Amino acid sequence: MKDYQVKRMFEAIAFSYDFQNSFLSLRRDSYWRRVLARCIQLHGEGLILDMATGTAEVAVEICRQHLRAKVVGVDFSPRMLKIGRKKVRSRGMESRIRLSLGDGRQLPVKSGIFDAATIAFGIRNIQERRQALGEFWRALKPGGQLLIMEFDLPGDLLLGTLYRLYFDYILPPMGNLLSRTSYAYSYLAESVHGFPEERAFLQEIGQAGFTSLGVKKLTYGIAKIFMGIKKQ
Ligand SMILES: C[S@@+](CC[C@H](N)C(=O)[O-])C[C@H]1O[C@@H](n2cnc3c(N)ncnc32)[C@H](O)[C@@H]1O
Repeated sequence: MKDYQVKRMFEAIAFSYDFQNSFLSLRRDSYWRRVLARCIQLHGEGLILDMATGTAEVAVEICRQHLRAKVVGVDFSPRMLKIGRKKVRSRGMESRIRLSLGDGRQLPVKSGIFDAATIAFGIRNIQERRQALGEFWRALKPGGQLLIMEFDLPGDLLLGTLYRLYFDYILPPMGNLLSRTSYAYSYLAESVHGFPEERAFLQEIGQAGFTSLGVKKLTYGIAKIFMGIKKQ
């Protein structure tokens, strides 16, 4: 899908995005974001970039766990951000979370200012991945942490087969119905199948200038957190 189509899709599904996520993942999504935020290593204060922040779920979770952190959330969908801003206000986190309209391929942020950068379920939507990884590298301080969370399919044969049945045949029609679109969740399945395998993606992260690479598997590998550090 082209970037403008992705943007249009998130604009269309924003109204119930949080509910769709929670319902279709049996609330696993909140757990995955909690783990993602826990992987951030901060010593006291810190400035975090949350790219493809959407409705600010990750940004809020980071602030909940890291009491002296501040977060800049960036997304190119105004409607997703509008819901995010309302959420940030309702949590009283306006002084700690700033949400900005912007594109991951050309981040509207200064270079070398972030202690860590996160992106949850967003990198898969960006065709120019190399450019996006380069932007993360630019935005991070030397030694800064990169954490990318993305969907995958369980490696176990039995579990993988059962999950694929759900993921390919049950989730798309259910998700499309909930999001009142004919394509959003069909695209989700297609884009997960089209995403590089673990080793290939780690290699891409390494090629973008990150070191100490690692992967954390969540819920039998349905979600994965890819980690790297910007070389000093
Ligand atoms: C699946 S949502 C994830 C939102 C959030 N991170 C979460 O965990 O719920 C993907 C988000 O990526 C955003 N997005 C996709 N491509 C983007 C790009 N090139 N630049 C900025 N945001 C982008 C979409 O607007 C959408 O809000």
